Amino acid sequence: MAPDAAGESPDERVFPMRLQRFLARAGVASRRGSENLMTAGRVRVNGRVVTELGSKVDPSVDEVLVDGVPVSLGESAAYLMLNKPSGYVTTMSDPQGRPCVAALVPTDLHPGLFPVGRLDVDTTGLLLFTTNGDAGQSLLHPSRHVNKRYVALVRGSVTPHQLELLRGGIPLDDGISSPARAEVLDPSSPAARPVCPDGVPRGCSVVSLEIHEGRKHQVKRMLRAVNHKVVRLHRESFGPLVLTGVGPGEWRDLTKAERDALERVARGGADADGR
Ligand code: URA
Repeated sequence: MAPDAAGESPDERVFPMRLQRFLARAGVASRRGSENLMTAGRVRVNGRVVTELGSKVDPSVDEVLVDGVPVSLGESAAYLMLNKPSGYVTTMSDPQGRPCVAALVPTDLHPGLFPVGRLDVDTTGLLLFTTNGDAGQSLLHPSRHVNKRYVALVRGSVTPHQLELLRGGIPLDDGISSPARAEVLDPSSPAARPVCPDGVPRGCSVVSLEIHEGRKHQVKRMLRAVNHKVVRLHRESFGPLVLTGVGPGEWRDLTKAERDALERVARGGADADGR
């Protein structure tokens, strides 16, 4: 089997495995977070503090402790979707003390929960959380092409020519965006409601934009590049997941079918919509 970007086999059953990968798979933290735990001296293997990032473990014989608590691959990972409200930073802790999404999800039930990707502080909608560091990392990898659909309330009227520009790829300061799906929505349709629940403000329109990249402020920058300022932005879908059954500020566990579809995308066994 071909090695992945970290030089490891993607086969989840191969032992020994890198310690940070083991910790991520066990749901302790993301891969990067697990590396930080190691370098901070918080991880012991068979009684010895291990800080070296290349170290390997075989969970069938090695005892791994984080902060003195045994870690195993036994429990299945948690997956949930949050309907993120505006005003929350996508981080599990904020040194500046701003409200962050960690306050909205059950970190007591699922230590090691982290958001898969980021929404801007003023963006609302679907934010996926998991304790599965490998799946989280894979879903964000550009090669997975996970589709994300956004609904944007923008200033001005969007012309057919501007839609064509969005569909074809827009020059941004970090390179041309990949082709996107773009359409104007009827502002009175249910699909537009998340960004204009009380009707569309005068002089504004509603656009649906589906992209598979995840660059910083990408949707706002793409729309800005065709002369439309985003007033409100909402994410409606992420890969096979659609924001349903969860009100603003609420979370719910993924259903078994959603989990399976997501894990298929994370493994690369389905297209970006999970089909
Ligand atoms: N694109 C943006 O501009 N902002 C987001 O929050 C997500 C995508």
